[in-house]
Amino acid sequence: MKALVLAGGRGTRLRPLTNTSAKQLVPVANKPVIFYGLEAIRAAGITDVGIIVGDTGDEVRAAIGDGGRFGIRVTYIPQEAPLGLAHCVLIARDFLGDDDFVMYLGDNFLVGGIQELVSAFRAGDYSAQILLTPVDDPGSYGVAELGRSGQIVGLAEKPDDPASDLAIVGVYMFTAAVHDAVRAIRPSARGELEITDALQWLIDHGHHVHSHLITGYWKDTGRVRDMLECNRIVLESIETSIGGSVDDRTEVTGRVVIEPGAVVEGSVLRGPVVVGADTKIVGSYLGPFTSIGAGCVVEDAEIEYSIVMSDSTVRGVSRIEASLIGRGVEVTPARKAPNTHQLVIGDHSTVRLRG
Ligand code: DAU
Repeated sequence: MKALVLAGGRGTRLRPLTNTSAKQLVPVANKPVIFYGLEAIRAAGITDVGIIVGDTGDEVRAAIGDGGRFGIRVTYIPQEAPLGLAHCVLIARDFLGDDDFVMYLGDNFLVGGIQELVSAFRAGDYSAQILLTPVDDPGSYGVAELGRSGQIVGLAEKPDDPASDLAIVGVYMFTAAVHDAVRAIRPSARGELEITDALQWLIDHGHHVHSHLITGYWKDTGRVRDMLECNRIVLESIETSIGGSVDDRTEVTGRVVIEPGAVVEGSVLRGPVVVGADTKIVGSYLGPFTSIGAGCVVEDAEIEYSIVMSDSTVRGVSRIEASLIGRGVEVTPARKAPNTHQLVIGDHSTVRLRG
């Protein structure tokens, strides 16, 4: 069995971070979200992994390399434009051959791994297996309608009027039957070859598409609030580990990870909190569910329920909350007079100021 991991696409909902960077590399507890997927694939015993890359391919390649550190062998498959999930299957035909495969969306985050799901698929006699989970806003996802005995009656991509609250999770299992489907379907109204349409094609042509209801935690990390929520879930289960230095004027409660080379002085840390390598935290408060990346400086500042990516500085500002701060960012106070805000912000940023 092989895996096809999708790391192309645009990531418009995470702008401006994704103007310059791959959305699959946004860190959750200081680890790129796609790494969790690669680890789950390896844990399910799959080592032959194709990765679809687009405009941000260089960055994805730099982060993942040949896959050796995950115990997998990676083949990169460039996609000329984000033409849809089924298009990814189409262009991966040579890599996939006639093997069964797992398709894993690189921005999806699934707690609990895929081992049992892969075993169930291998043991079953299905052309495809999809995972479903109830959500509050089904119109933002692929949606499945199930019949009385749990069979799939219909599938629709981001419908205006969802037939159920069951979203299609971004982890799919296919046999080679899917290749006929992705060749047969036509682009949707939004101009993409939809995997949802390929699945519907399989059903319409007499194939058995099995659905599996998952109850564990799942998130599509496409939006800021979803990233912060994933960060919270991962931090919930960290164990304390102090690789850097924490001085005796610092008060630590709860579980914290201080990575090697990090220095914490005269601060209050209320875990769960992760502080990245070579980061300096001075005279500051870090509240629960905060991840500070590597090479940052946080001085005389307060941050809670937030992600700060690497090489950023936050200095002299009171409580920052529910925020996603990119790489190499500087957040500092304005001059006392005139009483103004001074902003240098990239395209498609969001800034919420008090007063
Ligand atoms: O997250 C689950 C949802 O994922 C499903 O419920 C939907 O049925 C499915 O269409 C998909 O919807 P999204 O709108 O979230 O897909 P997105 O465009 O974000 O792409 C998902 C991943 O695949 C993302 O990591 C980018 C990558 N991708 C996407 C496209 C369209 C590619 O590599 N190439 C592409 O052409």
